[in-house]
Amino acid sequence: MTNTLKLLIIYYSQTGNTEKMARAVEEGAKSVVGIDVEVKYFARPEELAEVDAIILGMPTYYHDIGMDMKNLLEEASKQEINLKGKVGATFGSYGWSGEAPNMLLEILKNRFQMDVVEPALRIKYNPDKKGLEDCRNLGRTVAERILKSSLT
Ligand SMILES: Cc1cc2nc3c(=O)[nH]c(=O)nc-3n(C[C@H](O)[C@H](O)[C@H](O)COP(=O)(O)O)c2cc1C
Repeated sequence: MTNTLKLLIIYYSQTGNTEKMARAVEEGAKSVVGIDVEVKYFARPEELAEVDAIILGMPTYYHDIGMDMKNLLEEASKQEINLKGKVGATFGSYGWSGEAPNMLLEILKNRFQMDVVEPALRIKYNPDKKGLEDCRNLGRTVAERILKSSLT
């Protein structure tokens, strides 16, 4: 018997742009058969350990990552939650500098030694049709990567 492959999307959004991206990432991930996809606004550190892939969505406000996400990752780090080798990706809407998705990807890659999809997907303000397609592609890419590694 094989366990179901799990993909968790955690995102934050204040004015809805990153939320639109999150829904499209979800749609792309769900287009891959055999993956259990969950989307959340908040998560506990232990939940990160229970999934095969983690995608984080974060808009940039004041050149930084939101507090809840920062706390989640700091807690996971303190509790020594092992995410090594899990697939990771990040995305987010921004206005001019767009640091947050890059900062998150760097944390997933270097602090948690996750197998990350690079580069982070960043979209200026409201995602257009092409932007939403990029989001669906990101979700699909991550889902296909965990499916593939489960078969080898
Ligand atoms: C108070 C405030 C601060 C912001 N700071 C930044 C910033 O430092 N860098 C940046 O690229 N965009 C910045 N933005 C723009 C937001 O990232 C942008 O509006 C984004 O689409 C918001 O995403 P959301 O709808 O998911 O909340 C800021 C916007 C506001 C209102």
